Amino acid sequence: MIILGLSGALGHDPSAALLIDGEIVAAAEEERFVREKHAKNRLPEQAARFCLAHAGVDARRVDVVAFPYAPIALTSPARWHYARRHWYAPDRAIDALVNGNRRYRRNRDRVMDLGVRLGIDWGHSQFVPVEHHLAHASSAYHLSGFAEKTAILGVDGKGEYATTFFGYGEHGHIHKLHELYDPDSLSGMYGALTEYLGFEMLDGEYKVMGMAPYGDPDKFDLSRLAGMNGAGVTVDTRYVNTVGLRRYKEDGVGFFFGRKLVEWLGPRRTNDAADEPYVHYAAAVQKLFEDRCLALLELHLGDILRETGRIAFAGGGALNVKLNQRIVALPHVKELFVQPAAGDSGTALGAATFVAAARGERLSRMRHVYLGPAYTSDECLAALRASGGSLAWRKLDDVVGETARLLAEGHPVAWFQGRMEFGPRALGARSILGCPHVHGIADRINAEIKYRERWRPFCPSVLDRIAPDVLGTSHPAPFMTITFDVTPEWRDRIPEVVHADGTARAQVVEPGHQPRYYELIERVGELTGAAVLLNTSLNRRGEPMVCSPSDALAMFSGCDLGHLVLEDWLVTKAAA
Ligand SMILES: [Fe+2]
Repeated sequence: MIILGLSGALGHDPSAALLIDGEIVAAAEEERFVREKHAKNRLPEQAARFCLAHAGVDARRVDVVAFPYAPIALTSPARWHYARRHWYAPDRAIDALVNGNRRYRRNRDRVMDLGVRLGIDWGHSQFVPVEHHLAHASSAYHLSGFAEKTAILGVDGKGEYATTFFGYGEHGHIHKLHELYDPDSLSGMYGALTEYLGFEMLDGEYKVMGMAPYGDPDKFDLSRLAGMNGAGVTVDTRYVNTVGLRRYKEDGVGFFFGRKLVEWLGPRRTNDAADEPYVHYAAAVQKLFEDRCLALLELHLGDILRETGRIAFAGGGALNVKLNQRIVALPHVKELFVQPAAGDSGTALGAATFVAAARGERLSRMRHVYLGPAYTSDECLAALRASGGSLAWRKLDDVVGETARLLAEGHPVAWFQGRMEFGPRALGARSILGCPHVHGIADRINAEIKYRERWRPFCPSVLDRIAPDVLGTSHPAPFMTITFDVTPEWRDRIPEVVHADGTARAQVVEPGHQPRYYELIERVGELTGAAVLLNTSLNRRGEPMVCSPSDALAMFSGCDLGHLVLEDWLVTKAAA
């Protein structure tokens, strides 16, 4: 069966994923093609075209178009909860009751139109809506490869109405146990504080997480933002997750937090520094988020964790690597699987896998993210020739050996190899690399290339053989979705990828998926004694990750980086 999953229902992170007989053949985010971060308010047209073309599938042969957004019945508690909790914005409350599936219908109509543009034959293809949180849950559970009963956690801003999902997977089926509904959203609260701290919501959350270790989480008690109640949390919408007239506004622009938050904590942060009191607010909201998620996890899924120790986690909240570290540390947890595209882009994969599983197809563990476009060496050469006169290039006989030597000498290197990653992390296909023992390399990449905030951490790719020594655990970590405490003996050896709190958000690199990247880390290990690389995404601040060779060359030309390895070609700046 050919299933095309499409995301983009919530107005951000559209993506496409193609499943053929249960196998993920291709997946990509729209932002990479349109060169606009999060590709807001778009549908994944170019991503879908790529997936079909890559697989050589005629759009007319697609059996199912799966979409992660579904109608919610008026009999569901979701719409009533929403209406009751939004009494202060009566237009919203009434709308949820009398016209609560308007967004679904609009989405469906847009996807039907997109299908026509793609060449899909709606006489043959079936449009299947999947509840947003079931799509997130499916993207984690069905791709975890866990055979035992598995706890499933979904923490997300908001789908149709649900914000948080508790369930379990068994024998290939997902069972829903409990949900929280809008506005009671812990991810929403985190997003509101992200805005308050001067970052963009649905983008800057990981910056808040990066800032948190610099602050004291106990200096301010933010618990009033989201109080525990029986089976869930109640978010105080006077402070956060605020809509309508209660919103805080500046120059006519409304924020997702209320005026009361500013009265309480002071003016929102507007500069680029990690300074007081904002670092403490970042630390406090991070702690509150972790504590509430862990309390709810114990409440709803504790029994399952004690039974089998398996947990699958998705939704934007699953990209909170510090929370994930605490989940892994829970006494009964044997393994946490975080689907690498845990945010909304991954719901394309989630909707597709949900339909596949429902129709009896077997799905196996997702072992890598190299699901996007690849380019031949000749295509790279054509892009080089078209790039204008400011670059020089030569073909490398020994790509791995020469790149390893550059890295060992202390140079950062842009690295473009094979199929682009699906999901927000660069994992060795579109990366900027450096040797993490080279003093100052993180600052150099920050200042000269990424132009990003100085206090944000860089992350390591660690060769599988030495990962237990470096991270003190053999827990799987292929996707940079969990932080680990770096062992004391390694902290001094790779200081440039250890965060202020002694942790690292590591990728453990295994052989077979990106062979050149694996060999490169091995070779660096031979040259330097440490088979670890600093690995950050190949893009400039505010831009999506590079997709094509011409994207890479435009990015390379516009920064101070000296070396780009573009498939077999070493690209440098031509002498003036
Ligand atoms: Fe979502």
